[in-house]
Amino acid sequence: MNVVVSGRNFVSEAEAFAKVVEATFIDVTYKVFPDGELYVKVNGVDRVKGSNVFVLNTLYPDQNGSIVESLLLLDALKRIGVNRVVLVLPYIAYSRQDKVFLEGEPVSIEVVLRMFREYVDVLLTVDLHNPDVLRIFNKPALNITVSDFLYESVVNEVEKPLIIAPDKGALNRARFVAEKYGVSVDYLVKKRDRVTGEITYETSELDVMGRDVVIVDDIISTGGTIAKSSEMLLSKGARKVYVVATHGLLINGALERLRRSGVRRVVLAKTLGVTYVDPLLSYVSIVDRLATVVRELLK
Ligand code: R5P
Repeated sequence: MNVVVSGRNFVSEAEAFAKVVEATFIDVTYKVFPDGELYVKVNGVDRVKGSNVFVLNTLYPDQNGSIVESLLLLDALKRIGVNRVVLVLPYIAYSRQDKVFLEGEPVSIEVVLRMFREYVDVLLTVDLHNPDVLRIFNKPALNITVSDFLYESVVNEVEKPLIIAPDKGALNRARFVAEKYGVSVDYLVKKRDRVTGEITYETSELDVMGRDVVIVDDIISTGGTIAKSSEMLLSKGARKVYVVATHGLLINGALERLRRSGVRRVVLAKTLGVTYVDPLLSYVSIVDRLATVVRELLK
């Protein structure tokens, strides 16, 4: 028996996923106590006992609460007694603090992964900022790339396309998309001030004149990275700039920043517990891609 249990951030996507993989969607009671502490209760314990459980949640918004909620769900399942737990976290918070940038800092993503490790047999995630960090999970863990799926939405619109990674760290993801579609690829040299967060780009030698550029990135947070890189590419003669980014947090005026920078269209994946309605944006569901991976796991 296969069942799906969801955190509050991801209920509608988890229900769709359960239908596609023909698993039973299990009801959960969620509560917040007056002092802010969380409570969960997995209902229908008899259907869950001894089953393969897919726990789906996303760790944005309310990163800290979502981490605790996921851990509470996992603990409840362990106590019920299940066969196998596959944790699906399309967006893992704290993923960008993947190293000590300044002395005295933690490696936050390792802390988060270690917390989940105890409860989980398999971890699935989507376009993780730095998939190499999964090494510390020490259990089966798979990062699913959906950027190619997102590129599909612009493939018939772009002329003389060039795929650009907005920094060197994003190059592997961009290269994967570029190779799949037979498009050339390059990257920009970005510097971020680790204290102020300010971004600067080295003037690029790239020849983008008359080409449609598609920027491929994992996260849009404040939109600073995309806005600065688009402005630079357009000033160097790019015809249009499209953006394919997996996780659209879009905080602190990001949408306005993107609009002002001249970006033509932004394609995002539905990996978060929040979506925005705006003519600049379009969303792609990742349910089918997750289901394909999970079907392989169940074989
Ligand atoms: C950085 O390495 C990431 O891949 C994203 O480019 C970055 O986190 C986006 O942040 P923002 O939108 O605030 O520039």
